[in-house]
Amino acid sequence: MKTEFEPEILAFCCKYCAYAAADLAGSMRLSYPANIRVIQVPCTGRVDVLHLLKAFENGADGVYIAGCLEGECHFLQGNLRARKRVEQVQKTLAAIGMNPERIHMYNLSSAMGPRFAEIAKEMTENIKKIGPNPIKYRIKQKGDER
Ligand code: FES
Repeated sequence: MKTEFEPEILAFCCKYCAYAAADLAGSMRLSYPANIRVIQVPCTGRVDVLHLLKAFENGADGVYIAGCLEGECHFLQGNLRARKRVEQVQKTLAAIGMNPERIHMYNLSSAMGPRFAEIAKEMTENIKKIGPNPIKYRIKQKGDER
């Protein structure tokens, strides 16, 4: 019997907005898929292209950055930089034959608990449609060969 693919998704969340929204979603008892692993960052501007690529190299099926609303970053342009980095990684993924839809950038406020849950569902559904990270499959194959 074939089991349904359960993606592993990393979410880099700014502590001022998305992380707080995740907390709010929790206190509102909103359910969202357990596929999301939240990593709190002081600002999305701290997330580097290398962190994003490393996540895929380590087998993440999907990755997203969730930062403050545009114009509301506590460090002024961190979320704008993060968006550019996501776009850069999308291009890199496409260049190596991976679906660029595996990575996204979202903006939300700390009051948007329901939106946080929605994004988590949206990403999980999208990645389920795209399928497993091909790099993860290769890593597993290499491990099996040893
Ligand atoms: Fe939230 Fe910069 S402080 S994205």
